[in-house]
Amino acid sequence: MRYLLSIILVLVVSLPVYAVNFRELFEREFLSKPWTIERAEESTCIECHTSDLMKPELRNIPQEWKKSWHYKNDISCDDCHGGDREDKSMAMSHKRGFVGKPGYSEVPDFCGKCHIGILKNYKMSGHGRALRYTGTGPNCVTCHGSHNIQKASLDIIYERRCTQCHSYERAKAIKQALFDIEDKMGRLEEDILSLRAQGVYMDEEERELFRTKAEFRTLFHTIDVNLIKDNTEKFSERLDAIDARVKDTFKELVFRRNYSIFLMLIFIGMAVIISVISNRYRE
Ligand code: HEC
Ligand code: HEC
Ligand code: HEC
Ligand code: HEC
Ligand code: HEC
Repeated sequence: MRYLLSIILVLVVSLPVYAVNFRELFEREFLSKPWTIERAEESTCIECHTSDLMKPELRNIPQEWKKSWHYKNDISCDDCHGGDREDKSMAMSHKRGFVGKPGYSEVPDFCGKCHIGILKNYKMSGHGRALRYTGTGPNCVTCHGSHNIQKASLDIIYERRCTQCHSYERAKAIKQALFDIEDKMGRLEEDILSLRAQGVYMDEEERELFRTKAEFRTLFHTIDVNLIKDNTEKFSERLDAIDARVKDTFKELVFRRNYSIFLMLIFIGMAVIISVISNRYRE
């Protein structure tokens, strides 16, 4: 009898907590899952481009693309090259918007139809101008590749790549100027993910971090060290504001956990007292 009573008490205290967490987890993890990979794969482009008839040097393009961040985000062959993925005979017809392989200096506009903010900064930059006027600047593919494009990071800037055309000095200065903010954003992201793993979702902060990151990331493409340095403080302040809220949540979480342990102990104590009293009463 008394065991039953204390078990019921403990369950009553802890059940709502688990029920809420479970439902939230289910909704977030399961219902929001993107069901897009299948769509990306049904495409006559891929069917034909992986067939034995395809030239060997072109045949591994779909495999390369499958490793990319674009693939994970459902950006397929025709999103970049145009054409009709559902109609084999007209797939590469210009009537269906096929643009084929972009020329070296056409690449920025080709990618920039989706990456608009980056295109704008790139075009005004030393690289953009060098490409437009003398054809000597790097295009997007020079730094990101074309089919196996990965999430961007400062690792893209390294000596062998940047010294193809000039000394590494200015490239290194840019990398250093970007490092502090990148580092801050990385740590903040880890904190938010760690909170999420504990069932706390900071959606507002996550969105704000995402916006800040997207804005900051376009900055590199200006390749203007002074401009980047001038903006560093502004970004730093924005990130500190998010960081303060995240830190508060960590503290609150510890408090809440201690508080529920405290409550649990009280209820267990009460259960023990009740069972002792009821035993006495029976005697
Ligand atoms: C029926 C087969 C077939 C289909 C379907 C097909 N392709 Fe192709 N594709 C080819 C062949 C063959 C080539 C030419 C290879 C060569 O001769 O260089 C080619 C070449 C290309 C090129 C390079 C063109 C250039 O300008 O150099 C691109 C880009 C391309 N395909 C994209 C696509 C996209 C996007 C789709 C789907 C909308 C698609 N292909 C559908 C067979 C196909
Ligand atoms: C993110 C945009 C993007 C996507 C997605 C993409 N491509 Fe491309 N593709 C390019 C670019 C840019 C080039 C030009 C590459 C260069 O300049 O080196 C290119 C070049 C090509 C070429 C010509 C290669 C050569 O060496 O002549 C073929 C063929 C091709 N793509 C097929 C495909 C197929 C098939 C898919 C889907 C599996 C695909 N592409 C997906 C951007 C893309
Ligand atoms: C000289 C090398 C270089 C060139 C050219 C270049 N990029 Fe980048 N790109 C980078 C680097 C480095 C980063 C990472 C910057 C950072 O971490 O702050 C980046 C980041 C990005 C991102 C990620 C932004 C984000 O929100 O995370 C995208 C998208 C991108 N570039 C697209 C492009 C496009 C489109 C072009 C052509 C118009 C282009 N890049 C040209 C080096 C380059
Ligand atoms: C049809 C639209 C479209 C085109 C064209 C396109 N992209 Fe993207 N790109 C996306 C989307 C969507 C994502 C995923 C969302 C994100 O991460 O920003 C992405 C992501 C990226 C990223 C990783 C961003 C990150 O978060 O680090 C890079 C780098 C990138 N693209 C470069 C390119 C380059 C280079 C080209 C041209 C060869 C190109 N993109 C063409 C839509 C496009
Ligand atoms: C395909 C050739 C090429 C590659 C690769 C290249 N650059 Fe450049 N870069 C240029 C040209 C051309 C200029 C403009 C002429 C100049 O100032 O030397 C330039 C200028 C610059 C400048 C000075 C811009 C200014 O406004 O003063 C910086 C910074 C820079 N590049 C950074 C980088 C970084 C970082 C990388 C590697 C991720 C890189 N570059 C790779 C061609 C290239």
